[in-house]
Amino acid sequence: MPGPGSYWIGDEEKHQIDEVMATGYLSRYGRLEDPRFKQKVYTFEKELADYCNVNHALATSSGTGSIMIALLALGIKPGDEVIVPAYTFVATYSAVIFAGAVPVLTEIDKSLNMDPSQIEEKITPKTKAIIPVHMLGNPCDMHAIMRIAEKHHLAVLEDACQAAGASFQQKKVGSIGHMGAFSLNIFKTITAGDGGAVVTNDVDLYERAFGLHDQGHKPLRAGLEIGARSILGLNFRVNELVGALALAQLHKIDRITSTLRQKKNKLKAMISDIEGVTFRKINDSEGECATLCTVIFEDAQKAALVADLLDTTTVDKSGWHVYANMEHINRYLKEKGQPYGKGAYPITDDLLSRSINLSVGVVDAGLGSGFGIHINSTDKEIEIMAGQFICACNKVEQRSL
Ligand SMILES: Cc1ncc(COP(=O)(O)O)c(C=O)c1O
Repeated sequence: MPGPGSYWIGDEEKHQIDEVMATGYLSRYGRLEDPRFKQKVYTFEKELADYCNVNHALATSSGTGSIMIALLALGIKPGDEVIVPAYTFVATYSAVIFAGAVPVLTEIDKSLNMDPSQIEEKITPKTKAIIPVHMLGNPCDMHAIMRIAEKHHLAVLEDACQAAGASFQQKKVGSIGHMGAFSLNIFKTITAGDGGAVVTNDVDLYERAFGLHDQGHKPLRAGLEIGARSILGLNFRVNELVGALALAQLHKIDRITSTLRQKKNKLKAMISDIEGVTFRKINDSEGECATLCTVIFEDAQKAALVADLLDTTTVDKSGWHVYANMEHINRYLKEKGQPYGKGAYPITDDLLSRSINLSVGVVDAGLGSGFGIHINSTDKEIEIMAGQFICACNKVEQRSL
């Protein structure tokens, strides 16, 4: 199974789905005066907005769609530049490119998130926005990023696709920048199979996002639309079945993250005394999702040998999360005169080649987290997995003596 939410699909999800199936209302729009119309999408949006402590939430068909909608709502135009980290899922880059803008990559730090101290040198007169990505559930240092954005009048869109339920200094990720984007795909903290959401405090941004996601309509298609549509939109809507699943999972989100944090703490305590191995920096240890436990070796060769013994991979070799592994994105970067290909971001290359993602809740070979535990692992299973990891480290250490 991939993500923590998918392990916990159960009676609550079935109940929510059954309620929808009993009514025949499958679209997010229905007759409000009919008590049989359960308004699952609408309720999910209200509850997500409350959970994130923001004024507005909009359910969408994916995290990718959410980023795309948010960029367009923020007014990103062809030729603009958007600063993004060199370590993120391909969708962060492709959404920027589809908005017509140029992704300008920046190095990560030991948190494996965008390094705030590297952002300013990437800013040009064309820069319009920054996308901090809360990678692997670890919140970015949003104070530092917001300070830079305010100084240079840049929009901030949080890519919180991997971090639903995380917070930075008591504020939910997604709610700190001007807009936030979530994914509900099967690898995420909570899931609806596929789906996503956009959150914001700004009513104008919300109205633009709503229109973009539904053919230019005002929120909930309220009011007379003919002649009043202010924006050209597409279709990124979700239906009531997705809303029902998302709602059931949202009700579990805090239990999911607190369970993951407990399991991760146990695992970390068991593997914390290995020479030459540290943990990545967590910017808010009480607020992170704890979906992964990333270990960083002093030496890339040793990291690769340990990964091999565990039948997993170092992060630099993981699928569509590392800029150097995305030939289509690199082709685009080259065309736009941006640094591209392995070696373009040496700090990122080095860190990722020394890192292994141990799964705590997201079991995903594509993320390099094929080895580890999951949300239902018992103490015994955590102990066994920790033992295997220690044993692999010891073997590699002995070989190198
Ligand atoms: C950081 C990040 N951004 C965006 C996305 C895109 O989300 P989706 O798969 O729902 O389109 C993902 C999904 O894996 C992601 O990890």
